[in-house]
Amino acid sequence: MRSITDSEGNSHEIVQGRLIPSPDVPNHPVLSTQALFQRIRSATPSILDSGHHVEVTSGRYAIALAAEIINFRDGDEILLPAYHCSSMIDPMLNVGARPVFYKINRDLSVNLEHLKQQVGTQTRALLAVNYFGFPQNLQVLRDFCDDEGILLIEDCAHCFFGASNGRPVGSYGDFAIGSYWKFFPVLDGGCLVIRDDSLATPGVEAQSPYVDLKTVYNTLEHAINYNRMWLLQPAFMALETFRTLFRRDGVKLRTNVSEWPADEDIHYVEDDGFEFDAERTHLAMTRTSQTLISCLSFGRAIERRRENYRAFLRALDSLSNGRPLIKDLADGVVPYVFPLYLDDMRSVFPRLEDAAVPMQRFGQFLYEGVTPDLCPVTDDFSKNVIQLPCHQELTDNEIDSIVQRTRDIVG
Ligand SMILES: Cc1ncc(COP(=O)(O)O)c(C=O)c1O
Repeated sequence: MRSITDSEGNSHEIVQGRLIPSPDVPNHPVLSTQALFQRIRSATPSILDSGHHVEVTSGRYAIALAAEIINFRDGDEILLPAYHCSSMIDPMLNVGARPVFYKINRDLSVNLEHLKQQVGTQTRALLAVNYFGFPQNLQVLRDFCDDEGILLIEDCAHCFFGASNGRPVGSYGDFAIGSYWKFFPVLDGGCLVIRDDSLATPGVEAQSPYVDLKTVYNTLEHAINYNRMWLLQPAFMALETFRTLFRRDGVKLRTNVSEWPADEDIHYVEDDGFEFDAERTHLAMTRTSQTLISCLSFGRAIERRRENYRAFLRALDSLSNGRPLIKDLADGVVPYVFPLYLDDMRSVFPRLEDAAVPMQRFGQFLYEGVTPDLCPVTDDFSKNVIQLPCHQELTDNEIDSIVQRTRDIVG
C-alpha cells in the first residue's frame, strides 16, 4: 500500500486509485513500553506447545515449507476452504499442488458433507483455518484425515493461542502454521509447527545484519508514529530530519487530495499488501523479531485481546445495520480481530475508510473458480464482513474512538 502526505501534512493511503486517510489507530500491534514491561499470567496454550517448530518471515512461508515437506507430485490435490486469501493458495500452487475447494458453514466451521464429496484419489492433504482466532472442532477434522489417509495442515495464522477439546490449537494437525506479526508488535515472523518428532526441522537461512538493523529502526519508527514510546520521540525526529536532508529524494511527496478520482467500486483494505515470493521460503524470521517475541508477555496479549473483544461485543451488539459475526467468546479463545457483518457494505465501507477506521477484509479476492454458487456463505462473508482490530496494544481511548466512528456510520 502506498502512503502519501498531502499539502497540509496529513497522511493518506492510495487504495485502488482512491485516496483515503491513514488510520490513526494501529491495525496491528505496535511496540510500546508497556508491551516490553507489563507481565500477565495465563494458562491458555499457544501453537508452540504443539510440537517442534521453525521460524520464517511470515505464515505463508510456513505453508510453503509444509508443502515442501509433503512433497506434492504432479496432479496431487490439496483441500482448501472456499473462504481464503491468496497467501494460503500461492504456496500450494508454487509446489504444483492442485487446489480443490470445500464449503464452510455460517459458524465458520468446515462443511463436512461437502468436504467428503471433494476427496479424490489424488488428495494428499486438508488445510483448515481457525478463522479470526476461533478454533474449529479439530478432533472431527483429525478423524476425517485419518479415515481418508491424508495429512492435516492447521492454519493458525489467526489463532496463535487457544485450545480445542482441551488440547492446544495446532496440536491436531500434522503441521500447524502461525503468523507472529498478526499477534505481536513485530514487523515479520511466521512459524511452522511439526507434530512428528521424527521429521527433521527444515533449514532456514539467517537474514543479514543490515536487514536486522533496518527492522529495529522500522519497529521503533512504527511505534513512534503511533505515539507509543514517546521518550524516544525527540531522538527519532532528529534522526529523521538528518535522513531527509541526506536522502536523494529528500522532499516528501506532496499532492492535492482532490486530484484523486473516487472509484465507483467497493474499496478494500488489504491484509498486508506483500506478495508471495518463493525465494523467501527458507529465510528465517529476523533476530529483532525473535528477540522481541522472547521478551513479550503472552498472557498480556491473551487477556487484553479478550477484554477488547468483549468491549466491542458490548458496544456494537445493538447496531441497526450490522452485527458481530461471532457473539460467543468462549473460555480459552483468543481473538485475532473482531469480525463485523455489515448489511450495506457498498455504501458503508467507503465512509468507514474516509473516517480512517482501522479495519481489514478477509477473502475479498478469491481464487478463480471459486464462484458465488460454490459456497454462498463465502460469497456473503467475503462481500459483507470487515474485521476491526482488537489487539493488545490498543488503548481504551482508541477502542472508544473505533466504536464511536463505527456507530456513527453503521448506525
Ligand atoms: C488464514 C490465513 N492463513 C495464512 C496467512 C498467511 O500469513 P502471513 O500473512 O503471516 O504470511 C494469512 C494472512 O494473510 C491468513 O489470513
